[in-house]
Amino acid sequence: MSSVVTGKESMPETAKLKIEDREIDLRVVVGTEQEKAIDLGKLRNETGYITLDEGYVNTGSTRSAITFLNGEQGILRYRGYPIEDLASKCDFVEVSYLLIYGELPNRQQLEEFTRSIRRHTLLHEDMRYFYRGFPRDAHPMATLSSVVSAMSTFYQDSADPRDPEHVRVSIYRLLAKLPTIAAYSYKKSIGQPFIYPQNDLTYCENFLQMMFAVPCEPYDIDPDFVNALNMLLIVHADHEQNCSTSTVRMVGSSQANLFASIAAGICALWGPLHGGANEAVVSMLEEIHRDGNLKKFIDMAKDKNNKYRLMGFGHRVYKNFDPRATIIKGACDRLLAKLKIDDPLFQIAQELEQVALNDEYFVERRLYPNVDFYSGVIYRAMGIPVPMFTVLFSMGRLPGWLAHWKEMQESESFRICRPRQVYVGENERQFIPLDNR
Ligand code: SDX
Repeated sequence: MSSVVTGKESMPETAKLKIEDREIDLRVVVGTEQEKAIDLGKLRNETGYITLDEGYVNTGSTRSAITFLNGEQGILRYRGYPIEDLASKCDFVEVSYLLIYGELPNRQQLEEFTRSIRRHTLLHEDMRYFYRGFPRDAHPMATLSSVVSAMSTFYQDSADPRDPEHVRVSIYRLLAKLPTIAAYSYKKSIGQPFIYPQNDLTYCENFLQMMFAVPCEPYDIDPDFVNALNMLLIVHADHEQNCSTSTVRMVGSSQANLFASIAAGICALWGPLHGGANEAVVSMLEEIHRDGNLKKFIDMAKDKNNKYRLMGFGHRVYKNFDPRATIIKGACDRLLAKLKIDDPLFQIAQELEQVALNDEYFVERRLYPNVDFYSGVIYRAMGIPVPMFTVLFSMGRLPGWLAHWKEMQESESFRICRPRQVYVGENERQFIPLDNR
């Protein structure tokens, strides 16, 4: 068996698979961070077998140069830059540029990118009528995915996924309008007038003023909230092939337009096992606060006969700690102290973390706080209502979705995603006419 020298140690170039009386060589693919994969491209043709991997726990769907994460070591890097550096030294628009185009922008590139986004912050005036059709208590994730999908009806001039110019403009339009769409859904839910974007403000300043300003008095933007929001959007910006990003890739692989692909990603993120966990964490902390018996909830989460889970805990990839949770927890601590907010939910969250990290059930399963565990406490301190938490996760994740969709469209191996299955239903049977059933 020949081997591939990867600088650190030689790795096999092929893996042997012995099935029945056959033995085939499958190519080994080694990534730039020494991750190893077996390329199954010829498996079915040569053996008639497919693989089965429920939930894709062991399956790589693509090669990607955007984000690297190592769950054992708690490493997360966007285009090679550690999340700790980006979260503490960058602006969210700068990180969006990095994810989408692959390099940190120089000052001129950043100014041009910022200008290109600012030109598109307004929604078409007719899009505002969509909000009149939604009930006041509509979940903002439903509004967000609906209005984003509807963008393809207003921006038909930039909907061709195979036209680089169309893609370029659609990327600006989505980055620019998502905060406006999000803020409008909040204003609709509280019966306040929609506040137009102000293009002399930064991305985060603009979102906060659209959310909380009212036409009848000035709105002072709190720089602490701006910094906290900037950090939160950055740490949510990408996470390789997570559920919603894989959804964006899946939908985009049929050559559906970018607006439809992003709307699908928003729907996937909504689930409480994914981005919806940040909303579920606060509901869980509030329930524990009302009940007063934290141990009861830990025991429920450990009970095999109980489907209850500690929301914000555990991760498919991180089996040590989620570096984003560490960053967010630190920011949470500093912000609450600075604002002299004594939020009982933050105390409960820290208690919960300590109890869980010392409990064999969680230690054995390597369950640690994830990105969603503390983010809601910061959103609460900023006055963001709980139903909007996953909307802010969508705003953060948008550049990651855009980067992956673009990387896939530009890939030489671009093809429609179409997994196979193992059929376990009825074998062929005789048709029974209606009167005989
Ligand atoms: C995000 O993929 C990403 O990158 C996602 C994300 C991103 O940035 O895109 O990081 C964002 O989605 C973070 C995760 C947010 N979700 C939650 O906080 C919901 C609570 N967590 C879980 O439901 C769960 O941990 C998942 C969904 C996050 C991961 O599920 P897996 O990888 O399928 O793990 P599993 O369900 O197989 O759990 C393994 C074991 C099981 O016990 P056993 O059957 O082995 O006895 O751990 C247990 C689970 O019952 N377990 C939990 C638990 N999470 C897992 N038990 C109690 N509470 C939990 N939270």
